[in-house]
Amino acid sequence: TYANPKIPLPKDIYGPNRKNSKGVNLNIRSQYQPLIDEMAKFMDKEHHVKPLLAFDVPDAPAERHEVRCPYDTRQLVGSVQWTSKEQAQKAVDAAWAAFPRWQSTPVEERAQILERFADNMENHLAELMTLCSREGGKLLTDGVDEIREAVDFCRYYANRARNLFGEATQLPGPTGESNELYMTGKGVFACISPWNFPVAIFCGQMVAAAVSGNCVLAKPAEQTSLVAHRVVELLYEAGMPRDVVQLLPGDGPTVGSVLSSDRRITGVAFTGSTDTAHIINRALAARDQAAIATLIAETGGLNAMIVDSTALPEQVVADVVRSSFQSAGQRCSALRMLYVQEDVADHIIEVLKGAMAELSVGDPRDLGTDVGPVIDEDARKGLQAHIERMTGEGRLIAETRLDPAHTGNGTFVAPTAFEVEGIQALETEQFGPILHIARYKASELDQVIDTINGKGYGLTFGVHSRNESFAKAISEKIRAGNVYVNRNIIGAVVGVQPFGGQGLSGTGPKAGGPHYLLSFATEKTRTVNT
Ligand code: NAD
Ligand code: ALA
Repeated sequence: TYANPKIPLPKDIYGPNRKNSKGVNLNIRSQYQPLIDEMAKFMDKEHHVKPLLAFDVPDAPAERHEVRCPYDTRQLVGSVQWTSKEQAQKAVDAAWAAFPRWQSTPVEERAQILERFADNMENHLAELMTLCSREGGKLLTDGVDEIREAVDFCRYYANRARNLFGEATQLPGPTGESNELYMTGKGVFACISPWNFPVAIFCGQMVAAAVSGNCVLAKPAEQTSLVAHRVVELLYEAGMPRDVVQLLPGDGPTVGSVLSSDRRITGVAFTGSTDTAHIINRALAARDQAAIATLIAETGGLNAMIVDSTALPEQVVADVVRSSFQSAGQRCSALRMLYVQEDVADHIIEVLKGAMAELSVGDPRDLGTDVGPVIDEDARKGLQAHIERMTGEGRLIAETRLDPAHTGNGTFVAPTAFEVEGIQALETEQFGPILHIARYKASELDQVIDTINGKGYGLTFGVHSRNESFAKAISEKIRAGNVYVNRNIIGAVVGVQPFGGQGLSGTGPKAGGPHYLLSFATEKTRTVNT
């Protein structure tokens, strides 16, 4: 079982082996067919949405932003009316008006809303997956993982909240005095999320803040507002009051920055790039006469893996391919920099080339596809520019072939591997299916570790070795939030591998971990002279 015995968790609700509410284990691909049939009902629907605020939002057709499908940009998925600056400010008023009522709502009631919401998402799996696929370009397998993670967040945080916000803790004191410690919400949180986990991360932030007793202004990424809109509708159907959680679609520099510079915002839960986290941090600090805000930032990484000469080559390659290319490399946890001991490097690179030649890139709705599109044309161009620069320097070692019949109308990038000179690290995160490989000599191991740590990021890290003490020593020396030994480095499971980095990769606490809700809460003591 996955559960940490110290954390009371309901049985069998976490992790990849759990069945859905209809008893189907969606980790088995053959069981996808009924889901695929159901998805067909939602495939052609266009979605035209606007902000979901505690007050009426008039239609503003001129301000609608089109959403196109990443695997076929000729297809219009829908349009989004973005939140104006004035609406965002009014939403903060409404959130503060709702806060006293919500804060004093019993935690049991708040937790039950999350659990009903989790059930709602499971019951709307096909619809949400269709949106993840059409708007976010997600593979079916990634879509299932995505919704399952969102559901896990809801159930896990509901449970943690009962524990933290339930009974006050009685403290010792002198005779004639009672002392207790209890937790409450902090106020109003802005939850700003990225497009690469448009349901899981979007929900995780939002439900954690709300179940802790805060009101929430949720700003989804520009690219994935349609699925966020549907998710918030399902949350309202589960009983969440409309003034407690409001949806503010819009672009970062406008809506995101209005929120982070408003002096009434108590905290920001942010997931996205390190650069944006720095902008938000500065905006929060620059607010005049404002309380010191909480910033929970989960950001990017230059994730590495070290492979020594005792590692099993076939297992290494399977784990490297999954870590680098699943989700088209668009996971913050994805592998960017592989260090292979030189004695085994030729062999591992040969096997890797073979594995990359087998990858199928194309339509994410096809169960045979391994790698789908990247999110949009800007992302494609940026990644392609990096590929061309590295290829021009003669560093290309493998590139999966793209078949124009399957990729010609979308924003696809071929899975690509480069060999870099020496043991240098990457300078910047390349957020796509691009792997960099360096060979190291046994005598250079300490330098490799210093190079990885020296970049200042610290999200995920992997080590492959059959020498247990080597793997243990390396795991301890590398500064990273999630370390994986002899496996791939992606796909952290809620309550099992609480997820989050350190340094330039984030502030913590870890999402899906026992301490996450603490950052959304404030502590109070009450002393009564009896
Ligand atoms: P991004 O930083 O461009 O955008 C993230 C969110 O911030 C979006 O909602 C965007 O609108 C908003 N934003 C942009 N500018 C803003 C501003 N000035 N003020 C306030 N909000 C602003 O990131 P992205 O491209 O959407 O996501 C990819 C990045 O996210 C990668 O670097 C990836 O590593 C990181 N990421 C990290 C984690 C993690 O858990 N550590 C998870 C997923 C993604
Ligand atoms: N939590 C996600 C993973 O581990 C980002 O891949």
